[in-house]
Amino acid sequence: MMGTKTERLSATLADITRAAGILRSGGLVAFPTETVYGLGGNARNDDAVAAIYEAKGRPSFNPLIAHLPSVEAAKRYVSWSDQAERLARAFWPGPLTLVLPLLEGHGISPLVTAGLDTLAVRVPAHSAARALLSAFDGPIAAPSANPSGRISPTSATHVRAGLDGRIEAILDDGPCTVGLESTILGLFDRPTLLRPGGISADEVAEVLGAAPLTRNGAEAITAPGQLQSHYAPSSSVRLNALDRRGDELLLGFGDMDCDVNLSQSGDLIEAAARLFAALHELDQTGRPIAVAMIPQYGLGAAINDRLRRAAAPRNI
Ligand code: TXA
Ligand code: MG
Repeated sequence: MMGTKTERLSATLADITRAAGILRSGGLVAFPTETVYGLGGNARNDDAVAAIYEAKGRPSFNPLIAHLPSVEAAKRYVSWSDQAERLARAFWPGPLTLVLPLLEGHGISPLVTAGLDTLAVRVPAHSAARALLSAFDGPIAAPSANPSGRISPTSATHVRAGLDGRIEAILDDGPCTVGLESTILGLFDRPTLLRPGGISADEVAEVLGAAPLTRNGAEAITAPGQLQSHYAPSSSVRLNALDRRGDELLLGFGDMDCDVNLSQSGDLIEAAARLFAALHELDQTGRPIAVAMIPQYGLGAAINDRLRRAAAPRNI
């Protein structure tokens, strides 16, 4: 949050316990991983995840990686497979992120997945990250700890330069050793390299016995929509609505008459936290959706970006 005093923590047991407590109460903690510093929040807390986007000043909602302490923990959230097992054995803990189908009852905030039914999971190797994950004992959503549009931080000094006063704490445990973000591999019909990173495609190929598809190659072969990185409702979406037309349900903002309200009090963090759940809820009715005007400042920019994508014509 703007105007917050950002605590400086180290990797002592007392400070790790403090950091876990901040996460438990919905606060944000930047922490080191072997790749880059992450900006962590409780992945099961909508408000905490909304606060991550707010602190980064992200103009859109990209899905985030859930950081976990172990393979066993990952299996609670995603549908595991033989390929996942082999890759995890070879590279976890370490700089590999796996994208897998979410399990029912996962409890992960839809803001983490940007409404998708897949989740990116990673077990980092850094000792301070592992200590924090076991102290917190839950999934930590963490994008790189830089303001949107700036380069990823590989030291606590970088984090402080970008996020001081915007987050509750920075856990400083020196520079990151890999310095490059994790490799992201989607385990869809065929394993697909979504982002090159700390583990090479060759290393992945060696474990899988075949080279992963690359994103461009995959787009040509796999079903349309499979790699779409954003959830879009199946009902039509009309923006900047002043009232309901025909059969429409109205998604509101602020003190107004509507079917679902993103935030009665006009709070943009609360609105962001509720956005995906609200879209899903309205979509399930099968009725067209009208959305009230959302202000463009703060998280409003990201909310409006998401709504514009939801309203864009589909070519399915
Ligand atoms: O090394 C890293 O991965 C660092 C450290 C902190 O762990 N994290 C990081 O997070 O780089 P971020 O948010 O900067 O990048 C996450 C990437 C995004 O490009 C996002 O689109 C992709 O992961 N991603 C997350 N969930 C996804 C999903 N369900 N499907 C496809 N892509 C996903
Ligand atoms: Mg990043």
